[in-house]
Amino acid sequence: MTDESYDVVVIGAGPAGYIAAIRAAQNGLRTACIDHWRNRDGSHAFGGTCLNAGCIPSKALLESSELYYRAREEFKVHGIGFEGLKLDLKAMQERKNQVVRTMTGGIAQLFKANRIEGLAGTGRLLKSGQVGYTDPQGKQRTLAARAVILATGSTPVELKSAPFDGERIVDSWGALDFDRVPKRLGVIGAGVIGLELGSVWARLGSEVILVEALPAFLPMADAQVAKEALRQFQKLGLKIELASKLTAVDRKKTGLTLHYEKTPGGEITCDVDRLIVAVGRRPSVGNLLEEGSGVECDERGFIRVDDSCRTKRKDVYAIGDVVRGPMLAHKGEEEGVMVADLIAGKNAEMNYDVIPSVIYTAPEIAWVGRNEEELKKAGVPCRAGTFPFSANGRARALEAASGFVKILAHQTTDEILGVHIVGPMASELIAEAVLAMEFRASAEDIALTIHAHPTLSEAVHEAALAVDGRALNAINRARG
Ligand code: FAD
Ligand code: NAI
Repeated sequence: MTDESYDVVVIGAGPAGYIAAIRAAQNGLRTACIDHWRNRDGSHAFGGTCLNAGCIPSKALLESSELYYRAREEFKVHGIGFEGLKLDLKAMQERKNQVVRTMTGGIAQLFKANRIEGLAGTGRLLKSGQVGYTDPQGKQRTLAARAVILATGSTPVELKSAPFDGERIVDSWGALDFDRVPKRLGVIGAGVIGLELGSVWARLGSEVILVEALPAFLPMADAQVAKEALRQFQKLGLKIELASKLTAVDRKKTGLTLHYEKTPGGEITCDVDRLIVAVGRRPSVGNLLEEGSGVECDERGFIRVDDSCRTKRKDVYAIGDVVRGPMLAHKGEEEGVMVADLIAGKNAEMNYDVIPSVIYTAPEIAWVGRNEEELKKAGVPCRAGTFPFSANGRARALEAASGFVKILAHQTTDEILGVHIVGPMASELIAEAVLAMEFRASAEDIALTIHAHPTLSEAVHEAALAVDGRALNAINRARG
């Protein structure tokens, strides 16, 4: 028996699900959104991993730790001296928690304003196509919907050799909540989370070692960018062990001994106080699909969807981390907008070729489109224009003059095929490149655009000029 009926029921209120719910409601559809997130104190919150345990708290701590680090290491260069710099980690954590509370509370308000039924509890897709909803008291109801959107996100991968204990061996959420700075911190995985959280704790005083299985550093980034980033991270003090596989962790009375196999090098041991395991995330499908629901998963556990995020079942869509593609909040959000429009009978599509990637370290790393190695491999003829922040006045004024902007454009058409940045505010600078690529702009289009002076964005302008060997504030490599 059906208890309530909706046009759309969304399961999961992370950035993919809550945005889909808002867009569906904007489209005049009667919408409910179910989420069972529980904070450590048992309270319920909307916002999923991103707002509660991912993007937002990590950026709050990255900001605080960066300020502390700069006060300690860089203020003197600006002629600012003081005595008695102190770290109040409790206050830093409380600020982070307040940022999170404000943001998650905002979603509840947005649901109310858009007349979305926000339901705390667990959702399940039934074989009838309806949604089984279990509230926090365990009471069950059935919700009928014209369309269902699955947006249940992802959870951290656990290693058999280092199972999470919530104390000494933690996932990224645990690492955001440390109540003291570990003297020695181990991180398994030098991916995005390892680098961001490793940076936070290194800036606050930890000796950090990252153990990475792959022989190459940041293989998904442009090789030139990865090389410069590695140099900068090592300067910060991060010890990055590549081609190293964790074999065992011994728990001692107070700390942990890591055993890893380095190629070449053999077995290495190292003592740490705490360990973060950040070796990727897996789709969260758990008990979501009743047998016979008609929705399929692929061999890696992702819900199988087409380019429009439709599952095998025409009235059921899946979006965000639970489906193929990069596990990024903005990717999930745009999929949410697309499916909510499709359900409302509108035309909608997603341009998967121009999803920006950002790593919020110092320096920041950001890119969009293809990198030089990918273009070479695909046999696409291209020209590269690079411009260093060391020749950018604003970067100098900011005392952040390292890194560069690199633009790759097609050899003959000049269409921009990829933009790669390592340097200050790369996360903000990349937006111009994304917009340019969305409009299929040429490097010359950016070169002909006036950029305010003195800004970091002038480095993007100059890199576009450099594609044709015409950078104005740097010596160009010989043309042709
Ligand atoms: P989620 O945010 O995981 O939300 C899914 C929700 O569904 C959860 O609330 C879950 O409780 C709920 N749920 C699951 N199953 C059920 C069920 N059966 N019934 C009811 N509810 C259910 N991405 C970026 O783009 N930028 C960043 O800076 C960034 N930083 C990150 C930092 C960290 C430390 C981590 C871990 C991730 C970060 N990410 C970042 C990735 C980003 O958080 C994810 O890509 C994003 O949250 C995915 O959104 P989603 O809505 O698909 O899933
Ligand atoms: P990741 O895929 O970025 O990095 C995991 C790293 O662990 C890889 O380099 C991998 O080679 C390594 N690894 C895997 N198994 C290993 C093992 N046994 N021993 C040693 N190394 C091993 O995944 P991560 O960092 O866990 O992040 C998960 C997701 O969250 C990413 O897909 C990312 O997109 C998203 N995220 C995005 C952020 C952003 O946009 N700024 C920030 C944080 C996370």
